[in-house]
Order: sequence, then structure tokens, then C-alpha cells
Amino acid sequence: MKVDGKSYRTVWLKPDAQHIVQVIDQTQLPHRFEVKDLLSVGDVRTAISSMTVRGAGLIGASAAYGMYLAALEAPSAGFRESLMQAGQTLKATRPTASNLAWAVDRMLVAICTGASAEERRTLAKSEAIAIADEDVEHCRRIGIHGKGVIAALAEKTPGKVIQILTHCNAGWLAFVDIGSATAPIYAAHDAGIAVHVWVDETRPRNQGASLTAWELSQHGVPHTLIADNAGGHLMQHGLVDLVITGADRVTRCGDVANKIGTYLKALAAHDNHVPMFVALPSSTFDFSMRDGVRSIPIEERDAGEVRYVSGQTAQGTIESVRICPPGTVARNWGFDVTPARLVTKLICERGVCDASEPGILSLFPERRLLGRDDG
Ligand code: MRU
Repeated sequence: MKVDGKSYRTVWLKPDAQHIVQVIDQTQLPHRFEVKDLLSVGDVRTAISSMTVRGAGLIGASAAYGMYLAALEAPSAGFRESLMQAGQTLKATRPTASNLAWAVDRMLVAICTGASAEERRTLAKSEAIAIADEDVEHCRRIGIHGKGVIAALAEKTPGKVIQILTHCNAGWLAFVDIGSATAPIYAAHDAGIAVHVWVDETRPRNQGASLTAWELSQHGVPHTLIADNAGGHLMQHGLVDLVITGADRVTRCGDVANKIGTYLKALAAHDNHVPMFVALPSSTFDFSMRDGVRSIPIEERDAGEVRYVSGQTAQGTIESVRICPPGTVARNWGFDVTPARLVTKLICERGVCDASEPGILSLFPERRLLGRDDG
């Protein structure tokens, strides 16, 4: 993906100092584009919990690089225990997205095949890079499959601009590159299909306004920012052809945890016969869970994110202002769960499937026998 014409990923190893992880500081966007150095697994932990890096795919890839830094830091004696401890603390930073624990566990398995501490450090580096590369490749393939969905709609209505609504940021900023929900949009736009995106602002942190609007503008995709509550109205008036969101965790039966407010968009889409697509790489599935509402852990964040909003003043400074009386009590759930029955299709790197256990297993047959039946 390009920022002002220059290619970037969201996380990478510093070219001339491979013991340093570099990330785009997403807390500064869209006002400032800054790259931050992460020097230790502790820095990576802080970057994830402070939302310097965020989004399911990116926190997974960042955690993988964090495990590489943990391997560099670990003493040769007690190496394994030190890595296990680092993995636990990384996993504890954010509970909802599957990708974080998935990446840490994959790193631990890869690292532990090494015979010496030195070999383990080499394996840690190559596995972190492999996870990041795979994330990009999976998003690219999601784009190809999702473009087919948009192209089919465009063929039915020649000359019409396809109107897509998205929530939060499941774009390239939420992954290593390309994104999940945005991948079909970028692929369709690049293929010359006329698309326009309704961007939900996504309170309380406004990832739609600050991140999705920014990256769509970097790519030249026509879009319009709307208040979170506008989507239902637009759907009632025929102004949305399809909804595409990302996901933070999807159960083996197709229940989708995504940014808070996704469920309300899915209800409005269902009521108005607007198809609701969810795009995700396989690392976002949790094949051990069935009932998402009952089982998926929902992160509750600092209430200050509800009570305050931050933005740029006319003077160019970034400030945070309170929007409620000083003593108002607030609660801040980060995600909600959309039941599978409200999801039209899932778009994965292996293809498009029903949001149901048979649908998902048709793409992932190797998972048929692996589920813990908690439903
Ligand atoms: O809290 P965030 O910003 O890390 O939330 C993640 C999201 O942006 C969304 O829920 C997104 O749709 C899924 S991440 C691919």
C-alpha cells in the first residue's frame, strides 16, 4: 500500500538494524504519519495495548515480531520459560481477536523446534517474517474472491456505482497490508469497477473516520464519512448495495465478533435485504468455539474513550475534549457479536462460503475433527 506514493507495510524489521521492529504509529493518524521503533518485547506489548498498532491481523503480526524480540532477549539458560512468559503477556494485551493468540502459539511451536538458543533465534525471525508475508498473501486472495462478489453486483446493474458500507477499519492498517474488508474494494476499484464507500465513523475511537477514510483517500477510492447511526437510514433509501466488514474472531459456526456496532449494521442490513459480507483470513477463525455470543471474550476498554474525543484544532494541535458532564459514568465495550444468521457470506483466502459450520468446513475440511464442542 502506498502513503504519498511510497510503499509501506504496517510492521517490518528495520532494514539496517534487524533487531528493531518498526511500525506506523496509528494513534497519530490521520494528522501525522510517524514510524515508531520497537526495541523490545515490552515495547511491542505497549504498542498493542496503547493502540499504536491495532486491528486483528496487525496485532497478530506485531506479536509475532514481539516474540522474535523476546527470543533475542531471552537468556540461553531458561530460554523456553522466558519465551512462554513473553507469549503470555502478549496474549493478555487484547482478548477478543483470535489472531494475537494464534500468532504467539505459532511462534512458540516454530521456535521450540530449534536445538540451540542461536538456532531458535534464527527460527523466530524467519517465522515472524513468514506470518507477516502470509497475512499479505491471504489479504490479496480475499481481494480476488471479494472482487468477484462486487463484480457480480456491477454486472447486474451496468453503469451504477456500487455503494458499499463498512464499519471500523479492516483495511491495510488493520493488517500487514491490503486489509480484509477493504481488499475487495481495492481490487474492484483497481479493476475499474465504480465503487463508493460509506465509512462509519466508529465511535468511540473513530477508526473509520481517522483510519479508513485516510487509507481510502491514499488509494483514491471515492468515499463519504457518515455518523455511526446513519447506516440504517441509508439502507432504507436504497443507498447501500452491500455491507463489508472485517472480523476479530469468527466461530466454527460463523458467529462474527467485530467492532462494537457491527451487530446493529447487520440487523439493519437484514431488515432491508442488503447483503452483509464479512472478510477474514483463516487466522481469525476460532475453530474451538461455536456460540459466539456466549463464548467470545469481549474487551472492555477505558471509559475515557467514550467520555472524550480527540482531534485536530484549527491551530493544528491534537487535543482531547470531554463531551459529557464531568461525573458521567460510561462503559466501553470494544466489540459485539453478529450471529451467523445475519451474515450473508464469509470471504476468506480460500473462497466465499456460507456463515455456517458446513459452509466454513467446506473451505477448511482439515478442521472437521478439531473442534471442542462447547455449543
Ligand atoms: O480495536 P481495533 O481497532 O483493534 O479493532 C479492530 C477493528 O478494526 C475491527 O473490529 C475490524 O473490523 C476487524 S480487524 C481486521
